Amino acid sequence: MRYIISYVSTVNPDLSNTDIAKLMDHVNVHNNTIGLTGILIYSEGNFFQVLEGEEEIVKRMFERIKKDSRHYNIIKMLDKEMNDHSFSEYHSSFTVISDHYSQTELQEFLNKEKDYNPEHYKSILYLTQKFMKLL
Ligand SMILES: Cc1cc2nc3c(=O)[nH]c(=O)nc-3n(C[C@H](O)[C@H](O)[C@H](O)COP(=O)(O)O)c2cc1C
Repeated sequence: MRYIISYVSTVNPDLSNTDIAKLMDHVNVHNNTIGLTGILIYSEGNFFQVLEGEEEIVKRMFERIKKDSRHYNIIKMLDKEMNDHSFSEYHSSFTVISDHYSQTELQEFLNKEKDYNPEHYKSILYLTQKFMKLL
């Protein structure tokens, strides 16, 4: 069963920009290696993440992420099973966007969600836009 978890959190103020860049790089490489899809956005002291993939892997990863001292105030927004019938053709990747985020990458992520995750697309669009407007 495929699964989706999404949350927002506050970055630990001790983190430097370099620390954040390193974290984003690690997440990008690791998630693409283990087949987790979704997005991690960092902006102005907050993270927004959508994690999608096999239920066990998503839940285990979220448990690990929750214990990470590099952020706090973790507020879960989505925690649901995903309809996986269209996933056989789903060749997505994990996207990482930091302060100098690219609108194109964000739009590409949202387009993919619309096609392959239609049941949660509206929530994801709403949450992403809210997050961006908070900035
Ligand atoms: C906001 C945030 C999001 C993270 N997202 C991921 C993620 O999607 N995938 C990942 O492998 N690690 C992620 N991490 C890092 C993990 O918490 C953890 O440090 C990493 O998996 C390495 O764990 P290990 O040292 O036990 O191997 C994230 C950390 C933070 C602070």
